[in-house]
Amino acid sequence: MDRRLLSLLPVDRWPSAQEAAAGRWFSPLAEGNLSLARRTWVPAMVPWRATEEGLVTTDVLDWYGRFAQGKPGAIVVEATGVRDVKSGPLLRASDDRFIPGLKQLVQRVREQSGGESRLFIQLIDFLSIKRRPRREKFLERHLPVNAALSERLGAAWHGRDEAAIRAHLMTLDEEGLAAVLPARELEAYRFGLRERVTDTHLPHIAELPQVLPGLFAEAARRCIEAGFDGVELHCAHAYTLASFLSPTNDRTDGYGGSLEARVRLPLEVYHAVRRELGPTAVVGCRFLTDEIFAGGGRVSDACFNAVQFARAGMNFLSLSRGGKFEDAKQPKVGHAAYPYTGPSGHECMPTPRIGPPGPFGRNVSDVAQVRAAVRQAGFTTPIVTCGGIASFWQAEEILSRGEADIVASARQSLADPDWFEKMRLGQGAHVRRCFFTNYCEGLDQSHQPVTCQRWDRLKGLADDTSVRRTKDGRRLTAPKM
Ligand SMILES: Cc1cc2nc3c(=O)[nH]c(=O)nc-3n(C[C@H](O)[C@H](O)[C@H](O)COP(=O)(O)O)c2cc1C
Ligand code: SF4
Repeated sequence: MDRRLLSLLPVDRWPSAQEAAAGRWFSPLAEGNLSLARRTWVPAMVPWRATEEGLVTTDVLDWYGRFAQGKPGAIVVEATGVRDVKSGPLLRASDDRFIPGLKQLVQRVREQSGGESRLFIQLIDFLSIKRRPRREKFLERHLPVNAALSERLGAAWHGRDEAAIRAHLMTLDEEGLAAVLPARELEAYRFGLRERVTDTHLPHIAELPQVLPGLFAEAARRCIEAGFDGVELHCAHAYTLASFLSPTNDRTDGYGGSLEARVRLPLEVYHAVRRELGPTAVVGCRFLTDEIFAGGGRVSDACFNAVQFARAGMNFLSLSRGGKFEDAKQPKVGHAAYPYTGPSGHECMPTPRIGPPGPFGRNVSDVAQVRAAVRQAGFTTPIVTCGGIASFWQAEEILSRGEADIVASARQSLADPDWFEKMRLGQGAHVRRCFFTNYCEGLDQSHQPVTCQRWDRLKGLADDTSVRRTKDGRRLTAPKM
């Protein structure tokens, strides 16, 4: 037996077709604008298959078509950019030229799921992050030589010219540099320069509250025009709207500081999207139960935000966990920091190496608290839980205990997109189970097409010429077995 199978969530038995049919996970949901044939859900996963311009490709169509064959209640298309800037092979909805490709994507999912899966798309904005610089390049060119720096260098350096200061810095060892560089410059040196929502001295950051509602609303309009059933506003992980929600956001322009001020921009984005799409489109949001890093948001913040989102009229609330830059590992020189490498990243996509209680369902109790807060405030908004959910009975328990209304599964659905259908038909014993060791996430990290380590290890399939492959020979879609 593969040793990794030992770390899997034990499944004594899978449901019979009758048990699955009678179960809650495969039961429909109708609440407000959201109606699902089942409560199974594939959350957003970036597969790095778009063109460099952010256009839909054959591989994007195949990727989503393959998920649709498993007929989950809903599929959320990967984080898709609202801003018309070059951002590598990530999908974009930032201009009308993206609509035809997105239309094809919708058609593919409709065909492959027989119209049974609802299709949403996650809309994202993110700020700029630079690669970790080479020492010489940083000290000789990028480091701003200003009053703050000469202050830290001491009186002997006041009034000295820039070239002399740079030459002096080059002679310092790492400890010496750490002692004299101001905190943000030290971070830029060690990790690469990263913009924050609190950099309000930069005009494009100061004006985010004026610009983002319109960008999200326009992108949402394009997606609905392409045929999507709705949009998910990305307010989770390391990206712009999540950073507004965070307690680290101390902007003084009415969009930072108190809980009310921090949730203001995500709400204004929602209202702009709602105005654009009208009352019947599905508009939901993904945000965090816990940011995990010290000083970040906790579940009490999430409860507050969830009630505001529900009151505003969002149609679903999907909860993730962690995935932040604040505790990310130092990248190698020439690489950018990645928000899934530190403790918060590990909580976002937990592996068997994580501490007690292990990787399976570790976000569930926090999501349950968020749901309870929303219900207590009098709202019936469906709540989506996610994180290490990999068996029928686990999902059934979550639903029967009222800990969530919809149960999402990312990596298990990637390992075997047919797993929902296998369970529904009483063929759960044939599910190709996820190892949760994050081979896929490593590919995501290095911006390579995401595939699963389990797809290429199946007997008899190594030479399968019927599928498209990566340049290094990995199959791009899950095998049908
Ligand atoms: C390859 C990969 C890409 C992901 N991309 C996104 C994304 O675009 N947006 C998002 O909100 N979460 C993203 N996630 C996180 C998943 O949606 C999910 O929250 C996480 O994997 C935990 O769920 P799981 O234990 O069922 O895998 C990604 C996860 C993986 C493995
Ligand atoms: S590659 Fe990803 S989806 Fe495949 S088994 Fe590993 S963790 Fe699961």
